Amino acid sequence: MPENTPHLTDELRESPFMRACRRQPAPYTPIWLMRQAGRYMPEYREVRSRMSFLELCKTPDLAAEVTVTAVERLGVDAAIIFADILLIIEPMGIELGFAGGDGPVIHNPVRSSADVDRLREVDDIASLNFVFEAIRKTRQALAPGLPLIGFCGAPFTLASYIIEGGGSKNYINTKRLMYNDSGAWHAMMALISRALTKYLNAQVDAGAQAVQLFDSWVGCLSPDDYREYVLPHTQSVISSVAPGVPVLHFGTGTAALLELMREAGGDVIGFDWRVRLDQAWERVGHDVAVMGNLDPVSLFANVEHVRAEAKKILDYAAGRPGHIFNLGHGILPETPVANVMALVERVHEG
Ligand code: CP3
Repeated sequence: MPENTPHLTDELRESPFMRACRRQPAPYTPIWLMRQAGRYMPEYREVRSRMSFLELCKTPDLAAEVTVTAVERLGVDAAIIFADILLIIEPMGIELGFAGGDGPVIHNPVRSSADVDRLREVDDIASLNFVFEAIRKTRQALAPGLPLIGFCGAPFTLASYIIEGGGSKNYINTKRLMYNDSGAWHAMMALISRALTKYLNAQVDAGAQAVQLFDSWVGCLSPDDYREYVLPHTQSVISSVAPGVPVLHFGTGTAALLELMREAGGDVIGFDWRVRLDQAWERVGHDVAVMGNLDPVSLFANVEHVRAEAKKILDYAAGRPGHIFNLGHGILPETPVANVMALVERVHEG
């Protein structure tokens, strides 16, 4: 096995998911779902009832258990390690909490260049050993042919959380810092990117076969701002992932940014449901693989609708090698599990 991909057995290399990442034909369209281990699943809620979300992330045995349970229950073609994009901000000196169901809260957001100066360089990625341990345990417990995806937040989405202190509607604090003090902005993005590079490669060393960058909130930017303030940083992270490890690059609200995301890099570009898959694929180019893009809310309709929507997306992909089926964003907490299983089945029917 090549040194860069220490855990890539032949069986994993030839799995439908890994073949699709390389745009090679696969026996059926591989599918996995963002947030496939989560609150919509009773098994997850049971584990979660015993501890907080952060405690669960920091308990490798249980993080591995919820990862594997979701894959086995759904019959999907890849696992994604149970963790969160925000775990990496703790070693930067940011105080992170999750307020019961309301999403992340940051107690000391960065607002000024003095705050940026106080961010800690993540020299020693070992402070996130619980993630790497969860990856090792998951790799051991997963079926040998099922790839495991590691992930991180992309620099912009992480910066927006660090600055806003949580989710945001208009990203006023983020854009104010970006426009008023581009030096501080770029310094912060560079610090985040250095940490992410170490983090992703450590996930690969621990046993991940592919990695995904979630740029969930990048759609709030104009194309010019994306190019100036974001693209170089995302590009530096993606280009520093160990060669031979597929990188999936996903964002939402990105209809105006797809060509630029492609330029930033990735072997697979993820789309949300606001674009038509055939048109979006044409725009990023057929020399890259794509992922998507069912509206997560369509899973609340009846099974006939779910099946019809899945077929529509498969038709847009038209059997071209290099399509990984996914939702256009994460599964929502109230989603009926039976519909999720029906979706997986429909996609596998081809
Ligand atoms: O996909 C998976 O199954 C792996 C696990 C995973 C989680 N978060 C678990 C989680 C992944 C890949 C993430 C990524 C993540 N985290 C993103 C990017 C993807 C996206 O949806 O855009 C973002 C923006 C976050 C930040 C975050 N974490 C938010 C906004 C929230 C609250 C919203 C919510 O759904 O509760 C979280 C919490 C979180 N992350 C939960 C899970 C299962 C729910 C926590 C709980 O159990 O209460």
